[in-house]
Amino acid sequence: MTRLAVIGSGSMGAQIAQQAALHGAEVALNDVSDDQLDKAVAGNRRLLERRVAKGSLPAAEMEAALHRVRPTADLAEAVAGADIVIEAIVEQLEPKRRLFARLGELAPADAVLASNSSTMGISQIADASGRPAMCCNMHFFYPPLVMELVEIVRGPGTSDQTVERAVAFGREMGRVPVVLNKEIDGFIVNRILHAASQEAYRLLDAGVASFEDIDTAVEKGLNWPMGPFRLGDFSGLDVTYNARLHMYRTTGDERYRPSDQLRAKVEAGQLGRKTGRGWYVYER
Ligand SMILES: NC(=O)c1ccc[n+]([C@@H]2O[C@H](COP(=O)([O-])OP(=O)(O)OC[C@H]3O[C@@H](n4cnc5c(N)ncnc54)[C@H](O)[C@@H]3O)[C@@H](O)[C@H]2O)c1
Repeated sequence: MTRLAVIGSGSMGAQIAQQAALHGAEVALNDVSDDQLDKAVAGNRRLLERRVAKGSLPAAEMEAALHRVRPTADLAEAVAGADIVIEAIVEQLEPKRRLFARLGELAPADAVLASNSSTMGISQIADASGRPAMCCNMHFFYPPLVMELVEIVRGPGTSDQTVERAVAFGREMGRVPVVLNKEIDGFIVNRILHAASQEAYRLLDAGVASFEDIDTAVEKGLNWPMGPFRLGDFSGLDVTYNARLHMYRTTGDERYRPSDQLRAKVEAGQLGRKTGRGWYVYER
């Protein structure tokens, strides 16, 4: 039975922990905030209760899976005896590096140390642990209890064995792993999503079609559940804009230049669903 420690019990960490527990792992879930740990445990119970109500999960299995997640605010206790540690804390480099330094001191010497970061390749973090060969990215998708994919990214120092163990654990926890042999901004999924949505913005800015018709074309012609503009409203147009701006500034590549119309939406405070208006208007 794999012993997993998940560090950070926010939107991602809580569900990564629960997904692994549903597949039999013994999980320690750690956070700096006791309050957040309580929320994570309660949130997971609510999500699993829905499955029980729908008849897709037996009540006894739910109780067993909830029981296998042990919340703790003590990092040393969380990682003691862990086979694998998945970091899912705030998306900032320094806190992640500080955490990996502590993991290097506290986690068993043979534990795999994985980061769920969406944007930081493991090479930016791994050396802080003092054992870069044991480190990789394991990038899950929101919500991890539903989304099957996990991107496993090999850094320049990652060993073959670490990649194999991350892949095996991804499967063991009921997820579908893919391996990136090279570190690359945006990994696979966000890279492709980004390229497609940048093209959609280019068509809009060039006056080729309305945003509604571009969404309809993508939804009906490519069978995407949401076109790029509807998806942008869903994730937040400020998030979409800032991601593009970051890529544009760091690479200087014209392909990443944010659309003028996207910038105008952000400047007008029309950020999507969360503000009631983005490309579309939402009932609040
Ligand atoms: N939200 C997404 O859609 C998504 C998808 C894929 C990957 N990610 C990545 O997952 C990570 C977490 O994202 P999230 O959306 O769950 O964030 P979140 O803000 O919901 O949760 C982060 C949690 O980490 C805790 N934390 C902060 N510092 C800590 C520390 N040193 N030790 C222990 N806990 C600490 C916070 O208290 C908080 O509960 C980020 O790296 C993000 O890029 C997010």
